[in-house]
Amino acid sequence: MMFRDVLKGHAARVETCLGDLFDDMGKDALTKSMRYGVLSGGKRLRAFLVLEGAGLYGIRPQQADRVAAAVECIHAYSLIHDDLPAMDDDDLRRGKPTVHKKWDEATAILAGDALQTMGFQILASTKTSADANIRLRLIASLTDAVGAKGMVLGQMQDIAAETAKRPLNLNQITELQANKTGALFTWAAEAGPVLGNTNTSTMRDYAQAVGMAFQIADDILDIEGDAAKAGKRLQKDKDAGKATFVSLLGLDGAKAKAAELVEQACDGLEIFGGTGDNLRQLARFIIDRDM
Ligand code: IPE
Ligand code: IPE
Ligand code: MG
Ligand code: MG
Ligand code: MG
Repeated sequence: MMFRDVLKGHAARVETCLGDLFDDMGKDALTKSMRYGVLSGGKRLRAFLVLEGAGLYGIRPQQADRVAAAVECIHAYSLIHDDLPAMDDDDLRRGKPTVHKKWDEATAILAGDALQTMGFQILASTKTSADANIRLRLIASLTDAVGAKGMVLGQMQDIAAETAKRPLNLNQITELQANKTGALFTWAAEAGPVLGNTNTSTMRDYAQAVGMAFQIADDILDIEGDAAKAGKRLQKDKDAGKATFVSLLGLDGAKAKAAELVEQACDGLEIFGGTGDNLRQLARFIIDRDM
């Protein structure tokens, strides 16, 4: 099977799970805007990490679907807020109007807030895991990944860098990107071994490298990509004064860095043999993609 079909298959799983969750919710404007934010396209890379990571540790996809849905709720919240006028001010996401364009800013803020809560609510349910220790481990690690020492801090650093007096150095950009993108990626990859009640270090090492490569690829796409394929406005980071590996190392330097990270990530999967192939292909897809 082609890798893109594997990716599509995993995306369909998580979308079915999300669809079922929303079918049990209301038809009010808030729920509609949340549903639109999380169910209007997307590559579902974080869901893929959950499902594949789970598979490596003997957890069946049916047992990981809800965790995959939870991470996509959190990711969608982060995108809805990232696109707001006070943040990156974008009108298009996944080829469609952003939530604040389709509705209004207040709705977008609240849809993001409620999607974040929904992510944690899914994890807190006994349907996600019958084991309270596992549920708590998932929830506590997610608060670390997305809160004031993780994704939100990274977003703050990203915005602060736009007006910084001096350009960020390599260590500062590495830290910014590890927080902004790497932390949630890593949480997704570690969720499988957490569900299997086992050590997460192999998946963590893989995801930290792939997460960094992913954000570098996003920054490269901003310069070289095709907006119609990416489904979002491009050629904007430079004018906005964003601190990226491309702004520091140039396009070729950034590409070399991303390729090096992907090889490092794949090497770390050696202990899994052939069962790690989907994650190796994901790592390569992440730097070769046009979307
Ligand atoms: C975009 O993430 C935001 C970043 C963290 C760079 P994705 O490229 O994974 O977005 P979707 O979910 O596929 O739309
Ligand atoms: C978004 O990064 C990161 C988070 C939402 C946490 P970007 O601002 O680079 O993502 P795009 O380019 O808008 O998708
Ligand atoms: Mg941003
Ligand atoms: Mg943005
Ligand atoms: Mg970007």
